[in-house]
Amino acid sequence: EKYNYGVIGLGVMGRNLLYNIADNGFSTAGFDLDEEKVSALHDGATPGTSVKGTASLEEFVSVLESPRKIILMVPAGKPVDAVLESITPLLSPKDIVIDAGNSYFKDTERRIADLASKNLHFMGMGVSGGEQGARRGPSIMPGGDREAFNLLKPMLELIAAKVNGEACTAYMGKSSAGNYVKMVHNGIEYAIMQLISEAYDLLRKGAQLNNDQLYEVFKMWNEGEMNSFLIEITRDIFQQKDDLTDGFLVDRILDKAGAKGTGKWTSEQAMEIGVSIPTIDIAVTSRILSAYKDERVKASQLYPKGEITRPENTEAFIKEVGDTLYLATLISYAQGLALLVKASEEYQFEIPLKDVVKIWRGGCIIRSVLLEKFYAAYSQDQNLSNILLDQEISEIVKDKISSLRKTAAFAVSNGIPSLGIQSALGYFEAYTTESLPINLLQAQRDYFGAHTYQRTDRDGVFHTSWQNLNN
Ligand code: 6PG
Repeated sequence: EKYNYGVIGLGVMGRNLLYNIADNGFSTAGFDLDEEKVSALHDGATPGTSVKGTASLEEFVSVLESPRKIILMVPAGKPVDAVLESITPLLSPKDIVIDAGNSYFKDTERRIADLASKNLHFMGMGVSGGEQGARRGPSIMPGGDREAFNLLKPMLELIAAKVNGEACTAYMGKSSAGNYVKMVHNGIEYAIMQLISEAYDLLRKGAQLNNDQLYEVFKMWNEGEMNSFLIEITRDIFQQKDDLTDGFLVDRILDKAGAKGTGKWTSEQAMEIGVSIPTIDIAVTSRILSAYKDERVKASQLYPKGEITRPENTEAFIKEVGDTLYLATLISYAQGLALLVKASEEYQFEIPLKDVVKIWRGGCIIRSVLLEKFYAAYSQDQNLSNILLDQEISEIVKDKISSLRKTAAFAVSNGIPSLGIQSALGYFEAYTTESLPINLLQAQRDYFGAHTYQRTDRDGVFHTSWQNLNN
């Protein structure tokens, strides 16, 4: 018997993706270097589905139908290269290898070329949605090889999440576009998580809400225009009791963040190709800063904060913080999407922005009802350079900007850290300002380094011998 799909890497994500494929009527074979994972594979499968664990790469390869369709779900970096090194000699021309991990897009480009020289297809495919998503329907971001994509498409559409009956998967563009789009998805994910944490801080320190009240606030937010996966799980977090003490678990968790690198790559990329994404940058750097726990403890003693002035009207304050979170989240998406627009030109990915926001509406970590509005915006104008320039979006922004300004001011005047909120506001203010003071900066550059400048009233490049009036 031959199997339709193979999965290498049977950790939580790989195993669940394999079961999802099997649940949709395909026969699947799995391989992992860890024998226990292989032997346990069959036990977790839905009864009646065709799932086979294989004991060696040779066996794995031999049971797959031709052309072989092999999905890798192994940690990004060296593990992917190690798997490719051992498996490529066993493959036949036209076989397809799909990397479904969070691989760096430049690694994918190198691997595409490498496997193409062996007459093999290699694709980078972003998968988002965590364990539950992998099993019940993730958002899937494939890119690159069209021929290989067309072969996989019917399966991907079956296993992906659905929104209004439409599958949350689409072709994301040429080359490593699938990984690139997933990387930016994660950058936006970092930004939104940072913003939610800051909203939490304002509510607990400013309005002095307890966890039960926070639960109610997030529940209310999730029932309205802020409905999203991240707001929903945050709501639930405020209810989780601790097993080891009698309090809430969230209050026992150390405030030091981890990160695996996709957020950092997003920021590095934005710097490299010249796109301004400050809220994502701040989210990355805030995680770094959070890790200086010992120093923060010392510094907090050296620079004690004053009393926080409680907002006069708690209800109104909660509303303002909600609007702030909504708008700052919108601005974070705007930054990430603007990065995709530029990357698409820079790397000739031809990323269909409309499809990106369409398939992010379900299955993935940053799914939210807000994406429905972006989808409408890109449906009207595929070439929108920034979502903030859309007419409908501008109405939402105008409605909420005073809340963002007020909340930002509240945080500043009370010494509550709010890097994400301030950066979203700062980006908005600069982006919507016709005349920035950068004429002065250009003058300085020309003064000390003859870096030249352009003029507002005529074309060309100018340099001035600036006068030092003290000489
Ligand atoms: C997803 C997630 C997933 C993972 C990231 C972020 O879309 O399902 O983005 O890929 O959570 O790796 O992880 P870090 O926060 O550890 O960088």
